[in-house]
Amino acid sequence: MSSTFCPNIFFVLYVYVSLMLEVDLFFCWFSSSTQFSSLGSQFNHMAQWVQDDNRTGIYYETWTVRSDPAPNSTVWFESYDCSQFVHRAYRKLKELGAKLSSRSPTYYTKIYLYSGEPTYLGNDSAIFGTPALQNLAADIRKFYFTFRPHQSFVDFAFSLLEAYKKIVLDKTFYLYYNFEYWHLPMKYPYMQIVYEEVPLFLKNRWLENLY
Ligand SMILES: *[C@@H]1O[C@H](CO)[C@@H](O)[C@H](O)[C@H]1NC(C)=O
Ligand SMILES: *[C@@H]1O[C@H](CO)[C@@H](O)[C@H](O)[C@H]1NC(C)=O
Ligand SMILES: *[C@@H]1O[C@H](CO)[C@@H](O)[C@H](O)[C@H]1NC(C)=O
Repeated sequence: MSSTFCPNIFFVLYVYVSLMLEVDLFFCWFSSSTQFSSLGSQFNHMAQWVQDDNRTGIYYETWTVRSDPAPNSTVWFESYDCSQFVHRAYRKLKELGAKLSSRSPTYYTKIYLYSGEPTYLGNDSAIFGTPALQNLAADIRKFYFTFRPHQSFVDFAFSLLEAYKKIVLDKTFYLYYNFEYWHLPMKYPYMQIVYEEVPLFLKNRWLENLY
């Protein structure tokens, strides 16, 4: 990646985020379930699990936040996205005795943000309910307004500029994670979109123990 900022990344990001919002977890669930040879009588069990997982899981989280792109960098926040959901679903199905039949590798688009150590800002009610924090609350609202789906071309172009100003020039990203807000001091290369394999079938012992 060159050191000049590439707006295409934001374009791809916008398309991606819009898609995510619309496709939702249902498709993740649907595509994973089609890879099983049989669900049989476990189906009701599984349907219940999906609901429980939905209730207890943390807020759907698209971003993975790391200190830098190096493989040994610190991961500040793990994403809680489609790939994670599919992994939990597989684990549950194995528990219920389902036979896994797919051998094809599973690829997911992941979005990485690069930042220094995050600072905790507070939860929803603290930030939006405390008069002393109203400037922060307004700033966060404005930040998320630039990420709204279904924008006209003009709004979209304007939002791109706003996002660029905030993330690259102000080096600020407000991360919403599990109903709480964090400030990320962003740093180069700020953001990357990577299409990578997240293996479902256990290739090493470490994962084996998890399942
Ligand atoms: C998941 O939770 C959301 C919000 O509570 C709800 O609107 C949605 O219908 C739930 N989805 C499923 C599959 O239970
Ligand atoms: C990561 O690995 C590189 C080389 O492999 C090393 O130079 C660097 O110090 C490591 N960083 C950390 C945080 O461990
Ligand atoms: C939000 O944070 C405040 C103060 O840190 C705490 O008193 C409150 O219980 C929290 N609310 C929720 C819903 O977690």
